[in-house]
Amino acid sequence: MPFYHKLGKIPPKRHTQFKKPDGSFYYEQLFGTIGFDGMSTNSYHEQRPTQVKEIKKQYSVAPKVAKANNMQSYRFHGFKVKPENDYLDSRKTVLTNSDCSIILAAPKKSTEDYFYKNTDADELIFVHKGSGKLRTHLGNLDFKYGDYLLVPRGIIYKIDFDTEDNRLFIVESRRPIYTPKRYRNWFGQLLEHSPFCERDLRQPQELETYNESGEFLIKIKKQDDIFDMVYASHPFDVVGYDGYNYPYAFSIHDFEPITGRVHQPPPVHQTFETDAFVVCSFVPRLYDYHPLAVPAPYNHSNIDSDEVLYYVDGDFMSRNDIDKGHISLHPAGIPHGPHPGAMERSIGKVKTDELAVMVDTFKPLKVTEEALKIADGDYYKSWLE
Ligand SMILES: [Fe+2]
Repeated sequence: MPFYHKLGKIPPKRHTQFKKPDGSFYYEQLFGTIGFDGMSTNSYHEQRPTQVKEIKKQYSVAPKVAKANNMQSYRFHGFKVKPENDYLDSRKTVLTNSDCSIILAAPKKSTEDYFYKNTDADELIFVHKGSGKLRTHLGNLDFKYGDYLLVPRGIIYKIDFDTEDNRLFIVESRRPIYTPKRYRNWFGQLLEHSPFCERDLRQPQELETYNESGEFLIKIKKQDDIFDMVYASHPFDVVGYDGYNYPYAFSIHDFEPITGRVHQPPPVHQTFETDAFVVCSFVPRLYDYHPLAVPAPYNHSNIDSDEVLYYVDGDFMSRNDIDKGHISLHPAGIPHGPHPGAMERSIGKVKTDELAVMVDTFKPLKVTEEALKIADGDYYKSWLE
């Protein structure tokens, strides 16, 4: 997050003595990224954050690839992913490459008896169904339908849901996820043409601090393995921090669409960027207003990026037979476009209520075994008249 944030108690100067009321010390931790070159946070802990007691077990959660090289367009029925009690067990990777994984999850329960930390990847969690509280060692964020939760790699978190009916669309990114650079000035401030501004980005305001000793299980993901590591101090023992590296939330409903007289290209919908993929938000908006405008998109060849669309809500005018929770995959190398009749249907329409999240990856995506379980194998023929 390119904005400075401060929460809780911190000393006036970094790397100086910071004492508790009883005269003992708080323990400082610099939480840095990209060596010492990227965004960082300086946090102050009740106990040393290094007290590993035991490494209990190690197991792989690497996605099982069914099709490494893929040229087939797919539709996946996301809501066919079965709800599971455990948050981590419920996460099913459907598409993956060396930069990112696209995951569907329908967790019924909160992470009750463990904390989670993903050291491989930033996590962008889109909340399609459900509400609750994301609790992290750098503060909490309430979430509900339509929220993107950005959890930078290394943040220790738990996720609490209000009910058992939850649907998440998650992008795990091995490349850092930022807001697009072209929306910001040279100081990092969001510019007037940006479809969102600082007021729309929610920073943690609530910090849970426990000075407790005992046995605390953190499931730590590294190189697609989970390590069950037991720590001797409570992972949420931060009394304060400041810096630029912390979780934040942004609601897709706060994305202000950019429209034009003729059809605008997907970059106007861009919400997040990495150097390996982009994330776009398609939100309810007025259609193009040229008298001869064609509101449906034109056929297009994204020759060097795979295109994933996750359909959230509303009416998807360019597709036939697409419903909430569906994912379409249009692979690099071949053109795709509106289904038969969709272009004609769109003419004269003045607005759309569609809500969708798009992920365009620059490297091809591999299709997993989990994806084939919910795949529509004939979708690639759906443009035939
Ligand atoms: Fe497309």
